[in-house]
Amino acid sequence: MKVDIDMGAAPAGAKAMLDLEELLATRLLVQGNSGSGKSHLLRRLLEQSAQWVQQCVIDPEGDFVTLADKYGHVVVDGARTENELTRIAARIRQHRVSVVLDLEGLDVEQQMRCAAAFLGGLFDAERDYWYPMLVVVDEAQLFAPAVAGEVSDEARKLSLGAMTNLMCRGRKRGLAGVIATQRLAKLAKNVAAEASNFLMGRTFLDIDMARASDLLGMERRQAEQFRDLARGHFVALGPALSRRPLPVTIGAVETSARSSSPKLTPLPQQADDAHDLIFTPAPEERRPVVRRTPPPPQPTPTADILAQLSQAKAMAEAEAPAMTLFPEIDQAERNGLIDGVMQEMLGDPDAGFRTDAVLYQDFLVRCRIRRVPGEALSLPAFRRKLAVARAGIDGETAQSEPWQQALELSKSLPDDVQGVFFIVAQAAVTGNPCPSDATLARAYGTHSARRARRLLTYFEEQGLVVVRTDFAGNRVVAFPDLGCETLAGDPNGPDDGAQEQHAAE
Ligand SMILES: Nc1ncnc2c1ncn2[C@@H]1O[C@H](COP(=O)(O)OP(=O)(O)O)[C@@H](O)[C@H]1O
Ligand SMILES: [Mg+2]
Repeated sequence: MKVDIDMGAAPAGAKAMLDLEELLATRLLVQGNSGSGKSHLLRRLLEQSAQWVQQCVIDPEGDFVTLADKYGHVVVDGARTENELTRIAARIRQHRVSVVLDLEGLDVEQQMRCAAAFLGGLFDAERDYWYPMLVVVDEAQLFAPAVAGEVSDEARKLSLGAMTNLMCRGRKRGLAGVIATQRLAKLAKNVAAEASNFLMGRTFLDIDMARASDLLGMERRQAEQFRDLARGHFVALGPALSRRPLPVTIGAVETSARSSSPKLTPLPQQADDAHDLIFTPAPEERRPVVRRTPPPPQPTPTADILAQLSQAKAMAEAEAPAMTLFPEIDQAERNGLIDGVMQEMLGDPDAGFRTDAVLYQDFLVRCRIRRVPGEALSLPAFRRKLAVARAGIDGETAQSEPWQQALELSKSLPDDVQGVFFIVAQAAVTGNPCPSDATLARAYGTHSARRARRLLTYFEEQGLVVVRTDFAGNRVVAFPDLGCETLAGDPNGPDDGAQEQHAAE
């Protein structure tokens, strides 16, 4: 279905149209200095497309909450735990409700953590809910900063990772990133680079201009035109917009921004009595005014200062040897603790039905409770561990050379298919029959046997495995690099995991 959104006016009386379906596949980057009209542009896009596609707005300034009245967006107040936000995001995908995540009033670090948790929940939605969705992020440089700022490294990693996932890998999951930034040079390059459509507004700084012309494949000279653009005027380029740079004027919007730019109002007529107005107290103020000059602090006697200094030094010396009593983080111990947390979490019978993002949040909390030392595991690293843990490999096999090699091989695969790879590799390494389609399908989070078989074909195309069928119609998967293969297994057999569950009941 082709749906064209009317963004406003193009030259010669034409309309500036935006192909919505193409936008879903090719994403959009909006850039322009503060006041150039980016938020207005996003609002126009949201309003015009509201009836066609589900929307999520990550809104650092609480600008877009007014969409709720006319278009029925649900406003999600960001002041919640990260875990809660992740779960809400998962439900949003399930029920296909448009939302505004209002992050106004939170400090920058909290905004980053909340956006990361929320985007994570959207990204990790169950496969059945991968419906198309516009994910609009205003002031995207806050969430995907080009350089480390004042916020903690962990918050930055979480947020940047979520934005990278959105822009680089969201498409398959139905997520179409639409991001706006006032300073292109402040936005992480890999995040900006994934958009194929651009709307460039007024840009002052040379460094932003240079980035813009690089992204658009323009001569620097040509990009000079961005300097003179008026508010609400943008240059459009990209498969969903126009094949050549096209000047557009963004049209009107139905709802209003909650925050608007300051407006000049004429000063009141004031001539002679200004002096009186300022210096005559109003009747209700006529109380004696007490001057509150704080008393000057008592000077500290020099002897006391010297005493304090020597005390501090003595304490520092006393503490110094104690510090070294704490050993450097013991990697083995840390890994042991992490594995423990992992087992504990997967031991929860509900864990099988939770998305990776929800499990990840749960995992971070459990790590804090267990005081796991060192920096938190990143989401991709967590996913790998999870996939390995789910393959249920026993301790001895886990240490073996072929299994270590299997881990190494799997690194070339996308995160979401690693689980299936591990299950087949495990059967090969431990000399068990090749798992059935049903077992593989469950590991992949689908009911489709065809999808499971396609994954095996995919592994084969990657040169990781060779799949053959024996004369009885059973399947054998060989791992040439590991020097081992599975026993023959019936591809149409039952789901092993399901059997185990029955046995347990
Ligand atoms: N195309 C437009 N038509 C009318 N008013 C606009 C247009 N673009 C922006 N404005 C107004 O200009 C002001 C600044 O725009 P805004 O979208 O908030 O800028 P930015 O998000 O780039 O800082 C707002 O008050 C907005 O209503
Ligand atoms: Mg704005």
